[in-house]
Amino acid sequence: MSLQNESPIGVGHIRVEGPLKVTGRARYAADHGFADMLHAVPVCATVGKGRIAGIEAGVARGMPGVRKVYTRENIGRFARVEEKVAKLDEYRPPMEDDEIRYYGQYVALVVADTLEQAMAAAAAVAVQYEARVPDVSMELAPDGEPRVDTERGDAAAEFERAAIRIDHTYTTPPETNNPLEMHATVAVYDGHGYTLYESTQGIVNHKAAMAGMLDVPEDRVRIVTEHVGSGFGSKLWPWGHSLLAAAAARDLRQPVKLVLSRRMMFHNVGHRSNTSQRVRLSATKDGRLTSLRHDYLFHVAMDEYHKENCGEATGFLYSTPNLRAAYGSARRNIAPTTSMRGPGAVPGLYAVESAMDELAIELDMDPVELRLRNEPERDEAAGLPFSSRHLRECLLQGAERFGWARRDPRVGSMRRDGLVLGWGMAACSWMAVRLKARASVTLRADGTARVASATQDIGTGTYTVMAQMAASVLGLPLDRIEVALGDSDLPPGPTSGGSMATGSLVPAVLAAARDAVRQLAACAARAGVAQVSGVPFQDVLRAAGVDHVEGHGQSEGSDADPGARRHSMHSFGAHFVEVTWEPAIARLRVARVATVIDAGRIINPRTGRNQIEGAIVMGLGMALLEETSYDPRQGAPINNNLADYMVATHADAPEIDVHFVEHPDTVLNELGARGIGEIGLAGVAAAIASAVHHATGVRVRDLPVKVEALL
Ligand code: MOS
Repeated sequence: MSLQNESPIGVGHIRVEGPLKVTGRARYAADHGFADMLHAVPVCATVGKGRIAGIEAGVARGMPGVRKVYTRENIGRFARVEEKVAKLDEYRPPMEDDEIRYYGQYVALVVADTLEQAMAAAAAVAVQYEARVPDVSMELAPDGEPRVDTERGDAAAEFERAAIRIDHTYTTPPETNNPLEMHATVAVYDGHGYTLYESTQGIVNHKAAMAGMLDVPEDRVRIVTEHVGSGFGSKLWPWGHSLLAAAAARDLRQPVKLVLSRRMMFHNVGHRSNTSQRVRLSATKDGRLTSLRHDYLFHVAMDEYHKENCGEATGFLYSTPNLRAAYGSARRNIAPTTSMRGPGAVPGLYAVESAMDELAIELDMDPVELRLRNEPERDEAAGLPFSSRHLRECLLQGAERFGWARRDPRVGSMRRDGLVLGWGMAACSWMAVRLKARASVTLRADGTARVASATQDIGTGTYTVMAQMAASVLGLPLDRIEVALGDSDLPPGPTSGGSMATGSLVPAVLAAARDAVRQLAACAARAGVAQVSGVPFQDVLRAAGVDHVEGHGQSEGSDADPGARRHSMHSFGAHFVEVTWEPAIARLRVARVATVIDAGRIINPRTGRNQIEGAIVMGLGMALLEETSYDPRQGAPINNNLADYMVATHADAPEIDVHFVEHPDTVLNELGARGIGEIGLAGVAAAIASAVHHATGVRVRDLPVKVEALL
């Protein structure tokens, strides 16, 4: 082996798949095509509650190019899978019965020779409903007794006797995941097994789910996901369209392509629940929290349950002897909810961090100082030491980089160029979990290596960091390392979710690379090749007369790792925000954000910084723009397109300064790398809402911040 001196870990290498993407050669799910491929278009319910009274599909069946119209009568039965087999957010298979639970639910599927023919025929399918008025109310009252996330001391009693108290309710609206790439499936059935070209964040789970619902052994399903135009959580678990495409391909014995429309993205593939969160804080005069209560509610679909875990960070973010986080849910005739970037913690920290800002004002204390005073020594909820917590450093460095010391806390007191400035800040946190993973590394006689795992790159840089991990052991330049992922036939790897993929891949890839080196030495020894050290591996392979050697690596999840289980593992960070406010024309802008993140070792600072920048822009959208609105008559998402559902664009993006404090978290993995996909979004909306208050004196407790609330 010839080893490089420079470690590739921590180098901001450009994305190895970048050239494929910018030249249009990267294939996304819907880019896969076959000569005899058919096109499927679902028919979606146009009422939000009721029953299907009848479906008149005769006209559609007779239209040009139509191969088949499927309804409940002829789609066939799908099996339900159990959660221990595979995770879904909608366990009820499509078209299982005649009941309509939400607007947009699949009621029929048209398959035709061309997309246009299928669309025309889908529009001609006439569905009669016995419709009732759906419940899409955004007012949340819990369906049952509250359930407790975490509790210590007696928060209620302490709050009652406290002199300094904050008690407010914060709401966040339903937000819809809007990745650029639509959900899509190209399904191929060869009479024995299925190959599904998918846009998914989890090919391994997808395979298990599809095999379960199609009732075939798992080895008859292969999922291929070469590139993903993001998912933001909506592609974590399979949705019904994938099953419909597979069933049609099986029935018609031809490949079937099904691509969701943007409209369907608003009701068939999940969204983030709306939340209502009451936060009660009490403190001593010198700013020590004496109690914290976080009671939150979220909506769920009629027959499915997805917990919007707003209390994720509540238990350990600050030191306080008395704390309780509890939740309830309310069923609505709204399509199933799902994970959206930073699920739970993102709306949760909007509420808790807003309340902390309100407490700082009540105490007449700097909000950074308030947080520093409540920094815990250990995780007081779990009773465990933190694996690595550097929130204090994030707060101090963020304040320094932003220039926080120049802040005048008086509302509306800061101005620049005729604009009113508002400065706000918030802390953030996100969990660190390692999933079990396997990987292989192959050394080949042509001097290249291949690193493989059945994971996927959702646009975050997984191809690149996998190459860097392998390179760190092999000492090869990245252009001699091929990365294979996005194929469920590879050794099973992690889901790209929960900011867990990178940290989970580290031990598996390093172990596989080391095993490959051992295999090389063993094969050299067998062949009597004396000198291995310092010799290029391709020369060793040639001398030994073999074409390649393959190493394998695997690691257990952190839940099965005694060292990890003795620690509380999370990432932390702090955001500092400047807004500008022009009262005369009611124009609010986010001008500047400085963010400091403690996510352990950063394997690639270029893709890492890019993740945080994107998250900050998404947080701006959450704070000021994003909100899904439902029509109370039929329960339809009204703003079901990117003209009416606003996401932040480049024109909205502020000046962003991202800095990582790098303290490797070697409890999580040997490189000390935690994930960074979600942490950057948590806390942003609270920092913006606090900055808005500083500029205008208006505390907005219901997102998004609308200028009419500021007038
Ligand atoms: Mo993220 S919501 O776990 O894709």
